[in-house]
Amino acid sequence: MKVLVIGGAGYIGSHVVKNLLACGHEVAVFDDLSSGHEINLFSQAEFVRGDITDSEALAKVMQKGFDAVVHLAAKKAVGESMENPQKYAINNLCGTINILNAMADNGVKYMVFSSSAAVYGIPQYLPIDEKHPTLPINFYGFTKLEIEKLMTWYDQLKGIKFVALRYFNAAGYDEDGDIRGLDSAPQNLLPIIMEAATGKRECLKIFGQDYDTPDGTCIRDYIHVNDLAGAHTAALDYLQRTNESAVFNLGTEAGTSVLQMLEACEKVIGRKIPHLFAERRPGDPARLTASAQAAKAKLGWEPKHSSIENIIASTWRVYQ
Ligand code: UFG
Repeated sequence: MKVLVIGGAGYIGSHVVKNLLACGHEVAVFDDLSSGHEINLFSQAEFVRGDITDSEALAKVMQKGFDAVVHLAAKKAVGESMENPQKYAINNLCGTINILNAMADNGVKYMVFSSSAAVYGIPQYLPIDEKHPTLPINFYGFTKLEIEKLMTWYDQLKGIKFVALRYFNAAGYDEDGDIRGLDSAPQNLLPIIMEAATGKRECLKIFGQDYDTPDGTCIRDYIHVNDLAGAHTAALDYLQRTNESAVFNLGTEAGTSVLQMLEACEKVIGRKIPHLFAERRPGDPARLTASAQAAKAKLGWEPKHSSIENIIASTWRVYQ
């Protein structure tokens, strides 16, 4: 297929581009490089620098004629989305409307969208399956859920079939070392542990030690970015095969606590990592784990890269 990856210079997007190229797809990347990196680009994929809030730029690139769009361009900091919802409304919501309109105008048939477990909000049961109520508790999660609803309407009205992939905690780096762009101000646990390990930051602050979990710290479902990438390629195959829209969780179905992650990092790196215990971070549920049964059954997808050791070792290689 001829695929336009929007946000293809970003952390997850660049891994998706690599996977699509390896599976024989023709790929172009559209990215404003606001958080993506030039070093994440692949020479085999044409690169167009542009912003999704610029509808003219999107219209122009979409005229090149694509079978599918993989859309990963978004602002993604949960905390910031609560302080500056305007930025998230314009980038995530208006930007996606521009993409869908350009797709409709140019007859692009398929969309794979990077959604998030943030659409669920506080879990009512575990593991979370796709039927779990969607009640986001932050503006970021709200934008992802609204985009899913927009895509449902564009499916009904314009025939654009979509797969929304609800990622749990994305982590790890390409094992071949082909993707090396680092987040300059990381907010997520593993990059922060890495920065504490390299001395780039003083220490890891563990948010809360009195949760109702075995060691008192929060449990998350960490999924390797190469497993996420493979699911996008599988989603395109699924769309071509079935011509049906769908929503899938992507996670390992296993949980790792903050302390377990820290200890596993110390083991892989071979030294102690400075840390201290701090207050709980508002809005953090004690546990989040996915049911990925639907993705396994319908996409034929299986996580293969997501052992905690591989997630950590592949990340450490880049941070070193
Ligand atoms: N944590 C710390 N210290 C830190 C950073 C994180 O203790 O400095 C803890 C958090 O409290 C949490 C766990 O590590 O318990 C994971 O936190 P992250 O910020 O890495 O990830 P979240 O689970 O909060 O959120 C991530 C993405 C969201 C996405 C969600 C889906 O950042 O965009 O996974 O599960 F919606």
